[in-house]
Amino acid sequence: MSSSIPTTMKAWQFSQTTGGIEKNLKLNNTAPLPPNANSLAADQVLVQVLSSTLNPVDYKFAQLPILGNLIIKKPASPALDFAGRVVASGANSKKVSTEDLKPGQLVFGKLDAPTQYGTLAEYTIAPRSGCVPLPQGVSLDDAACIGTAALTAYQCIVPNIKSGDRVFINGGSGGVGSFGIQLAKVKGCYVATSCSSVNVELCKSLGADQVIDYKSKDIVAELKKMQKFDLIVDNVGTPSELYWQCHDFTHTGTKYVQVGGGLSLGEIYSLLSRMMWPGFLGGGKRPFQFLGTANNSDHLKEIAQWMAQGKVKALVDEVYGMEDKGPIRAFERLKTGRAKGKIVGDTIIGSLDLLAQTLHHSLHAVRDLCVAARIRTAIFYCTIYLPDSSRERGRQAAGWFDDLILDEGITDMQSLILSCPKVLRDGPRQGQTEYVKLMDGYECQVWER
Ligand SMILES: NC(=O)c1ccc[n+]([C@@H]2O[C@H](COP(=O)([O-])OP(=O)(O)OC[C@H]3O[C@@H](n4cnc5c(N)ncnc54)[C@H](OP(=O)(O)O)[C@@H]3O)[C@@H](O)[C@H]2O)c1
Repeated sequence: MSSSIPTTMKAWQFSQTTGGIEKNLKLNNTAPLPPNANSLAADQVLVQVLSSTLNPVDYKFAQLPILGNLIIKKPASPALDFAGRVVASGANSKKVSTEDLKPGQLVFGKLDAPTQYGTLAEYTIAPRSGCVPLPQGVSLDDAACIGTAALTAYQCIVPNIKSGDRVFINGGSGGVGSFGIQLAKVKGCYVATSCSSVNVELCKSLGADQVIDYKSKDIVAELKKMQKFDLIVDNVGTPSELYWQCHDFTHTGTKYVQVGGGLSLGEIYSLLSRMMWPGFLGGGKRPFQFLGTANNSDHLKEIAQWMAQGKVKALVDEVYGMEDKGPIRAFERLKTGRAKGKIVGDTIIGSLDLLAQTLHHSLHAVRDLCVAARIRTAIFYCTIYLPDSSRERGRQAAGWFDDLILDEGITDMQSLILSCPKVLRDGPRQGQTEYVKLMDGYECQVWER
């Protein structure tokens, strides 16, 4: 267990949802950490959140009358998905290796269910089944998109298809749909999907073979004109005929997997009738499953590997800062139901704090954190003091910071080294300066502007 766990943290919190969760969100700079942050169970990991993403479940549950209050104690921080850094992990369980989840390890994943201590905060406690190492080459923001949306798409599609199958995905341009199209293509399927007119090209660019614009076409009528499908995935829940008539455009035994839908009485009735009304009494003629996503570290790892290999990408609608009104605007955007892919929340931790907290790590780790957390606002200028005897190593180290100083037009290691004195001398050094001595012999100086 790490001794450096603070007692308070920054967290976006809500105490009620009257008028919508976004109307009640406030940044608390001294929120308590989850009560068992210092006494983690064997299957728990304390994570410093460096990026988080929103999903419809983050407001749908919280806003449920009565039930929302019973499920989530207040004040509460919303959100399930995260990418960040392990601060501590629970005592080793015999069943699960802790090797991967040592303090300092970059990770991503998803909490099990809406909780008082969600991921729009500096720290969260994740279950091991929903917390896996970040592979090389995947940014924290992209990894934070995987948790709920990609895992849901994976669990709807991957166990239910084989290469060459034909899959129809209702709603291809949102968080789940954008991953669904790509995962089905990775598995060698033919993919048809639906979306609004403005997103047709987007769905094609993700790999969809056929796209139905539901604004101008009747989805069911279009599907009936096509070759029969082997799997239907419904990320929307409407139109209701999609299920009731799917025997006309699917093979016998084809599964209909639904994840999307609202929580109004009408929508719940519609869902229950699909689930319970037997086919021989006039109900649906294809097996129906309402899928509730469950954490599975193997699934998360496989998706992230595909991402690292460039086979799957995160479709990011927008990245919001965590100061000011960032999360409020993010929820407003999410609730329009028009997001193209995922809505990402930047790290809540101040950039300099973030660097200062990595003092015990190597320069490589600092670079990983800065680049992965997309400290993209060019907040840093870094000067790397090269150890006398290892000029070559110093050049490599300097190269790692390219991303951070692109603003200055410095794009390669050589010019970075040549420019260091200039940056030091002329750089606009406003704000706090931090001098960082690193374990691997390098020193760097960073400052905000
Ligand atoms: N059961 C579970 O475990 C589980 C897990 C994750 C998500 N979900 C649910 O799955 C649904 C989708 O989640 P998400 O994260 O993908 O949401 P999202 O990112 O907010 O998806 C919004 C997308 O839905 C599309 N859409 C809206 N109406 C449509 C229609 N009539 N036909 C086709 N597409 C339509 C929109 O695309 P256009 O602008 O192009 O219309 C938009 O891009 C939500 O209801 C969510 O609660 C359930």
